[in-house]
Amino acid sequence: MNELKLGALKREEVERAVDLCRDSILEGPNSQYTPAQRAKWADIDRADWTRRLVDQHTVAARDAQGTLVGLASWVAQTGATAWLDHLYVAPTCQRQGVGLRLLQAVERDAREQGLVRLQSQASLHLLPLLQRHGHHVLEHRLAGPDKDLPCAWMERVLEGVQG
Ligand SMILES: CC(C)(COP(=O)(O)OP(=O)(O)OC[C@H]1O[C@@H](n2cnc3c(N)ncnc32)[C@H](O)[C@@H]1OP(=O)(O)O)[C@@H](O)C(=O)NCCC(=O)NCCS
Repeated sequence: MNELKLGALKREEVERAVDLCRDSILEGPNSQYTPAQRAKWADIDRADWTRRLVDQHTVAARDAQGTLVGLASWVAQTGATAWLDHLYVAPTCQRQGVGLRLLQAVERDAREQGLVRLQSQASLHLLPLLQRHGHHVLEHRLAGPDKDLPCAWMERVLEGVQG
């Protein structure tokens, strides 16, 4: 996407950001999950997601008009590990490089803060992108309340990522 601008998510954008996450789950093209699985995944605890987006390091991607088109959030954990909690791109803006730009911003931020690895629980949408960019699968998992949403616990060692 041309003229993508990255910056901290503003407080007034948080409600829109939660909507964007839900839309990206429900309406993203070529999903590898069934409609029933997507509906289950999108049945989020809105207050919890709002709190996490406010409390964590959250990067927003905006287009030339300033419209929010994607976001990523991460949080530091023990063992100098960063946890990639959210990475969502608006349905109409997927496959234009937004997700990769957000991922790279998270990796730089985490590296700058002295963290040595980035882990995530990646959806089947995110898994190939991560694999192409230095992340590997630690374990294949089934997520969600009914343990029927395939995903993968993944990691990248951040050594060498430029801050
Ligand atoms: C997973 C997700 C964040 C990826 O974001 P994205 O913006 O689509 O990612 P990118 O465009 O950077 O890369 C995705 C693919 O598009 C390709 N691509 C990038 N720019 C492109 C362009 N201009 N034209 C065509 N394809 C392009 C990339 O090569 C990549 O292909 P690959 O997956 O085969 O490696 C997004 O699909 C999404 O929000 N999905 C729904 C929610 C989700 O699963 N989030 C993860 C939660 S764990």
